[in-house]
Amino acid sequence: MGGFTPFSWLLKLHNFFKQLFWLYHAMLKVEFHSHTNYIQDTETDYGPKELIDHAVRNGYDVLCITEHYWPNSPIETYRRDPFRTYEDFRPYAEEKGILLIRATEFFFKEGEVLLINFNGDLGDVRELKDLERLPESVLKIVPHPFFLTSNCLGDKFVENIGLFDAVEHSFFYRKHFNLNRKAIRIAKERGIPLVGTSDLHNLRWMGYNYTLVDADKDPESIVRAVRGNKIKLVTQPLPWKVFLYATYFHSFKSPSKLLFKLIGEIRSRI
Ligand SMILES: [Fe+2]
Repeated sequence: MGGFTPFSWLLKLHNFFKQLFWLYHAMLKVEFHSHTNYIQDTETDYGPKELIDHAVRNGYDVLCITEHYWPNSPIETYRRDPFRTYEDFRPYAEEKGILLIRATEFFFKEGEVLLINFNGDLGDVRELKDLERLPESVLKIVPHPFFLTSNCLGDKFVENIGLFDAVEHSFFYRKHFNLNRKAIRIAKERGIPLVGTSDLHNLRWMGYNYTLVDADKDPESIVRAVRGNKIKLVTQPLPWKVFLYATYFHSFKSPSKLLFKLIGEIRSRI
């Protein structure tokens, strides 16, 4: 548990001014990974408008609502068009000063990949190697690569590293429990941009981990800036309360989802 010491307050003050410094440089505050209940109704307990309003309150400029897309899922809602949220709520976001980017979290048999600024047809993407054929304007981010579950690429990330533009630094960590460590090491060794996200399923998770991007407020400029590593990861470990709730959320909150995940885990290991 974080102690109440002069040092911890100095550190908080330091982080606060550091963030102010980066904001002063007019970098864009971006969320690259978030979900809503608009298409997959069990994913969150908030809708796109609530998410957009919350992002505004938290000073974000750009939002990627990355609804899941899993072409072979046994659950019908995961096979639906994930861009409906983008299409239906882009005007609302624009009204609120938020740039919404067309994006999805695509489930390949090896694991998930975030496709940011994807304006093509998802029917053209089936296998991991299809990513090679996507235009330069699409940013391919590997989310939570080493988070132990079968929806994570794990070693397939390293084996196919040339296919990806960036790797995620997930919000879900504590000082002494951090599954991002391997991704951080690989990002440093290979010079791959490390992108902070909230993988948002609950509004209280937003703001602990995000990315500042040195770009114009348009999708292609943002994609170019990330690829060129003109970004700043802003991150802090989750408070215990949020960390424990996120653990509960992704495990016991929905028994049917947990059962479904367990079956998936068993199938992926056979
Ligand atoms: Fe996600």
